[in-house]
Amino acid sequence: MQTMKVFVVLVAVFATEQASAAVNTNTLARALHNKLSSLLKPELVFPPVPPGGNFKVLPKPVTPKLDFLLVLDSSGSITAKHFEAAKDACEILVDYIHGQSPFGMYGSRAGLIEYSTQSKTHVEFSFGDYNTVSSIKSRINQVNFDNGGATATGPALQLAKTELDVKGRPGNVGVVWVITDGKSNSGVNPKIPADILRANGVTVCVVGVGSSVNAVELNQIGDSGCVYRADSFAQLKTAARMAYNLSQPRLSSGFFNNLSFKRV
Ligand SMILES: *[C@@H]1O[C@H](CO)[C@@H](O)[C@H](O)[C@H]1NC(C)=O
Ligand SMILES: *[C@@H]1O[C@H](CO)[C@@H](O)[C@H](O)[C@H]1NC(C)=O
Repeated sequence: MQTMKVFVVLVAVFATEQASAAVNTNTLARALHNKLSSLLKPELVFPPVPPGGNFKVLPKPVTPKLDFLLVLDSSGSITAKHFEAAKDACEILVDYIHGQSPFGMYGSRAGLIEYSTQSKTHVEFSFGDYNTVSSIKSRINQVNFDNGGATATGPALQLAKTELDVKGRPGNVGVVWVITDGKSNSGVNPKIPADILRANGVTVCVVGVGSSVNAVELNQIGDSGCVYRADSFAQLKTAARMAYNLSQPRLSSGFFNNLSFKRV
């Protein structure tokens, strides 16, 4: 009888876990789009007032430029196949940003930290190394799966802080974007460097993929409003693509039909 009760409770807990892990692709896509579009939303900026003049200076909308630092989990549990989907999702995020705030030497910039064990955690490429969207995407495509035996998310975030301190451009908005499939199990608690990044004005976002992520830890890593979950890397890739599509101006076919030449 006692065994029976325990069994029933376990089934109930398992069912709840499964239910809470099911992510709606549309909802994820909308959430990604809302966050990225708010980060890239043009702000009204007053140009400097010309000296001595009695000019009326009007504010101009200026799109923020990002220093976008991907922090990509490359631990063995991800597997090489799913790591490819993770890289594809990163490339789509880069496309999204480029559509609103183009990459360039004086524009938005991107970097990537690949992490697993502390010794394998490294900067794959940094801000300013690649200045076109196509070179950034092809560089992401070349990232090799490290297949590391641990998940040192804290040390990876410490490295992100160093990278932004050394290579970040004042005036660009620092964004750290973590993609992980699990919970950290090596090095400093990731909450500590994540809080330091936030205190330095950096936006910290995290996507936890699959059912092995630690939800409490995700909420400690990401800013409130920038914590996402996906059931799989394939789903994250699809949602990123949908978010990108949402960011593109939508022209119905009727719009083109209406562009006919008028007879005069
Ligand atoms: C995004 O838009 C393209 C072009 O319209 C379309 O082919 C593709 O299926 C869309 N992808 C998603 C995931 O919605
Ligand atoms: C096309 O033109 C018609 C007539 O002016 C207008 O009612 C309709 O909204 C237009 N459609 C689009 C997609 O612009």
